[in-house]
Amino acid sequence: MKEFDLVVVGGGPAGYVSAIRAAQLKMSVAIVEKRATLGGTCLNVGCIPSKALLDSTEHYDNALKRFGEHGIAVKEVKIDVAQMLKRKDKIVSEVTSGVDFLMKKNKIERFVGFGALTSPTEVTVTNPADKSVVETLKAKKIILATGSVPIELPTVPVDGKIIVTSDHAIALPKVPQHLIVIGAGVIGLELGSVWRRLGAKVSVIEFLPRLFGTADRQMSNLAQRIYEQQGIEFFFEHKVEKAEVKGKSATVTVKNPAGETKTFEGDVVLCAVGRKPYLENLGLDKVGVKLTERGRIDVDMHNYQTSVPTVYAIGDCINGPMLAHKAMEEGVACVEVMAGQAGHVNYDTIPGVVYTHPEVAWVGLGEEELKEKGIEYKLGRSFFKPNGRAKAMMEGDGQLKILSDKKTDRLLGAYVVGARASELIAELTLAMEFGASAEDVARTCHAHPTLSEIIKDAAENNGGWAIHQ
Ligand code: NAI
Repeated sequence: MKEFDLVVVGGGPAGYVSAIRAAQLKMSVAIVEKRATLGGTCLNVGCIPSKALLDSTEHYDNALKRFGEHGIAVKEVKIDVAQMLKRKDKIVSEVTSGVDFLMKKNKIERFVGFGALTSPTEVTVTNPADKSVVETLKAKKIILATGSVPIELPTVPVDGKIIVTSDHAIALPKVPQHLIVIGAGVIGLELGSVWRRLGAKVSVIEFLPRLFGTADRQMSNLAQRIYEQQGIEFFFEHKVEKAEVKGKSATVTVKNPAGETKTFEGDVVLCAVGRKPYLENLGLDKVGVKLTERGRIDVDMHNYQTSVPTVYAIGDCINGPMLAHKAMEEGVACVEVMAGQAGHVNYDTIPGVVYTHPEVAWVGLGEEELKEKGIEYKLGRSFFKPNGRAKAMMEGDGQLKILSDKKTDRLLGAYVVGARASELIAELTLAMEFGASAEDVARTCHAHPTLSEIIKDAAENNGGWAIHQ
């Protein structure tokens, strides 16, 4: 039986990052992953492949709609879906081998197979195909980082071809004629955008009255208007009852807000109603690892210890947003605390991003959340339209909002709908992390001409002295 200081179960962003940090802190480390490649959902079937497709289709959309204005004439713009998917697969292969390289560089021993707890200090690795035992690993400490899987609705049976999850929607062999998306969340909007840009009719059916759950309402309304201009249609407050495949298409039956039954016909139905922790056959019961009421692994959110002191858990399988960057932060903090250091994750400054075009990004609290908490705030707003760089980029759609405490001016939240929002939000996240005031941001010199000046404009507006408004 091989022995290690730490055995990590799961090779996604939470798992591989914790393994590297542990190796840096001189622990002997093993990582167990059932996929042939490391990187988990994020690198294999999530964040990275979807961004590859979003970039390809944005180029296509630009070629169709914007090149003319730039004075670029192209004879014929055609889409080759097979080549687009091939490029995506190549990127996935490069990033997953990058993680492999990091495992070797840090002398982390890798085991391919399904890892399960067989005691508080033992992980058994089995071959998922024939269930034969590959190895039994002894560990002083174990980290569970098994991630999450798409939620499937019992009345919407996924067949992987017509009724699909995000796993399949990143690899559709041809552009659907009518893509019905169940769930106006991050996955629904990102993958809906990919196929809309390639010509599919896209209808999004959402249970709630608006996009993105708790995001700032005014900003999610703005994003919705832009998506609608792009041709995505939304059906809010519609409850999906069932979906049935008939031949080469599917019928989705819904109840509208008036309680009437309606049906939608589509050749692909994407079920994107959230994800759930992946805990099947992990041996949690066997060793007494407790779950929360909502079925995630129950941990102390400061040291990530479960109800079994030698077993820790991080990432999508514990509480908090299911985001790769949150998982990676937990990977570092968990191991540092284990090693007696002061690891810490600030859950108030975890940015959220939707990689549509324009992008939507936020950090901290939105207006409704501040009102609900009774916190008095100042609002600063700026627009992409007058910004010189945004004009040069033809990226005039969008707004940025900075919310700060009415008395102290300390930043409380920021929202961006616009080009490169995913990058812009980093500055505001850093500012919040350092406890900056809106005035600190306003008085920081920002390079001209850049989109980052839109941040400065909003911060100045927050103080009532915006120069460019
Ligand atoms: P989500 O939680 O973002 O959105 C799911 C939506 O489906 C919600 O708006 C919900 O109200 C709706 N819904 C649930 N049941 C429904 C029903 N029966 N009929 C109609 N609507 C229904 O979940 P999503 O988009 O599936 O993403 C899963 C996870 O993956 C999220 O936690 C997300 O944060 C993460 N993710 C993050 C990305 C990013 O950061 N850019 C990209 C993709 C996923």
